[in-house]
Amino acid sequence: RGDDGYRLWLKYDKITDTAYYRVCQQHLQSFTIVGSSKTLEAAAKEIKKGLGGMLATDIKEVSFRDGQLILTKYKDLPVRLKKQFRQDNSSHEEGYFIRDIEEKGKRKIFIVGQEDIGVLYGTFHFLRTVQTRGRLEGLSIRNAPKVQWRMLNHWDNLNRTVERGYAGLSIWKWDELPNKIDERYVDYARANSSIGINAVAVNNVNASPNILTQEYLEKLAALTEVFRPYGIRLFISINFASPKALSGLPTADPFEPEVQRWWDNKVDEIYSIIPDFAGFLVKANSEGQPGPQDYGRSHVDGANVLARSLARHNGILIWRAFVYENKGNDRVKDPYDEFVSLDGQFLPNVFVQTKNGPLDFQPREPYSPLFGALPSTPQMMEFQITQEYTGFSTHLVYLAKLYKEVLDSDTYTDGQHAPVAQIVDGTLQGQSMTGMAGVSNIGDVQNWTGHPFAQANWYTFGRLAWDHELSSKQIAKEWIEMTLTHEPKAVETIMAIMESSYEHMVNYMMPLGLTVLSSGGHHYGPQPWQRAGFHNANKDGIGYNRTSTGSNAVAQYTEPLRRKFEQVETCPESLLLWFHHVPWSYHMRSGRTLWEELCFKYNDGVDGVRQMQQQWRAIHHQIDTATFEQVDRLLAEQEDEAVWWRDACLEYFSQISKLAIPTEYEAPR
Ligand code: GCU
Repeated sequence: RGDDGYRLWLKYDKITDTAYYRVCQQHLQSFTIVGSSKTLEAAAKEIKKGLGGMLATDIKEVSFRDGQLILTKYKDLPVRLKKQFRQDNSSHEEGYFIRDIEEKGKRKIFIVGQEDIGVLYGTFHFLRTVQTRGRLEGLSIRNAPKVQWRMLNHWDNLNRTVERGYAGLSIWKWDELPNKIDERYVDYARANSSIGINAVAVNNVNASPNILTQEYLEKLAALTEVFRPYGIRLFISINFASPKALSGLPTADPFEPEVQRWWDNKVDEIYSIIPDFAGFLVKANSEGQPGPQDYGRSHVDGANVLARSLARHNGILIWRAFVYENKGNDRVKDPYDEFVSLDGQFLPNVFVQTKNGPLDFQPREPYSPLFGALPSTPQMMEFQITQEYTGFSTHLVYLAKLYKEVLDSDTYTDGQHAPVAQIVDGTLQGQSMTGMAGVSNIGDVQNWTGHPFAQANWYTFGRLAWDHELSSKQIAKEWIEMTLTHEPKAVETIMAIMESSYEHMVNYMMPLGLTVLSSGGHHYGPQPWQRAGFHNANKDGIGYNRTSTGSNAVAQYTEPLRRKFEQVETCPESLLLWFHHVPWSYHMRSGRTLWEELCFKYNDGVDGVRQMQQQWRAIHHQIDTATFEQVDRLLAEQEDEAVWWRDACLEYFSQISKLAIPTEYEAPR
């Protein structure tokens, strides 16, 4: 399929570095799989495809004695080897270790999993090691995920449109299922498994009741046949009013026994068709979706009805905290205000899924204060991978920076160092159910994500869900080497592009803590004049006062954060206008006034894109022509649009502030 992007980071092109090729050729010509299962078959297939591609030769499956690469579960190791591996053995069911050891005078590489899925994860890790030209000699790796549910949320509708999707139609061809299994489903499962994703919700949170009809359950069952060997569990988004919509019940009131019975029966039916079904994802009483509050009941009442039905089959319920009422109040306070008092009342199989920030996937928000505030409720992080507010599939924006910024944010929960990551991974508050979800950016275009660099956001989400301690740089490097080039200078340059891209985007779209300056509806491009309630610009200043003299959203944060955000002098400038309404003449740390700083930031963003363009052009000999040209064209469009953002926002704010745009920043006319 050439370099049309279909193969993602699993390209497996022939190794061109001759020294490295020789080492691999010497050590990786044959392999052995101990045991048999569909998951182990998937591992074998991947080894043949991966090493076969990279060595440009057939990799033979041979006996244990002859195998150079051994894939096995710990319990299937011969006793003499078990001893050697004992210190590595952790009981994590998805964990694995990879070691190069001498066995009867021969060097062999062992990929050892606790379970079959660990063997498969270890296989992908090993292939990544070769893809990134890692050292094989002395290989000694021990790995297990830090978070239990690593999940993609597709916002895919049953008519194949994708809400906030910018990469074509949904990959799920419902009209062909269950009879026809598209080859893409397998490659989708491989790609996800290679980065440790182990759950997917396949349909939009604004859910059609029809997903629960028998017709769709059979289609879903066919998908799970593809997912299962790759360790991927199926969730679906459901509509809370399904009992009414599907069976004509007069109500969906969670307190009505017939409603509970309806869900019990429906859930039984699902499990009779999909025995390892994972559970439901629910958006309720949010943006017009039905929910328990329609009947005067609470989120707990609604969630627990569904959770009770699911618990009978060990299923999980994910209930979203993305709620707001549009009552003219500061809506960023709503999730916290609605959920904190419910802590501890959800059944044990319920997750509350919380967006990373309190508003709605803006370019930059502070972390959601719900993290840390629900000590007795498992909380799943929800990130957005699809770039709804960050340039669709047109802008090159590497989102690892955003994810890391949130995960590293210190919540000071219980007065101690308590980064969001430690709440998400359960270590801080002793949660055993943990999860991280990402709203998918996948569609049916040839390269899956539209912008070739949007693949990196899918990749990085999975890697961080597995291990949030990985750095954005480390992940970028892996992805570049697996996807684009091994040439060190080019790798460095692309890393620099990716690492800087996030801040450039923030600067040319919504710097200094501004939000929602984008147009209404589709959210593409600037329309700050339509969004005055978010920025509150007037002739005196700009920003949203969320301090104690304003909406007091700061009160949702613990000390010492609350005080830090409350005071304009100590509030981080990157979030200044999120928390404060600040006079245009305010003196920033740079020595500029706020107005000058705003102009500076917008221009800095535009300059940043120009710099990325130059950096990209400088390496054009190291990148295949088609990808080079595609990204080059996209960067040109990104530059145009960065200018569009800058000019629209500055012209508009200049009219309000009655301040001229400093000449060095003036928009070209
Ligand atoms: C955003 C997005 C909607 C989506 C919603 C959600 O508001 O624009 O399309 O449905 O988030 O997360 O539920």
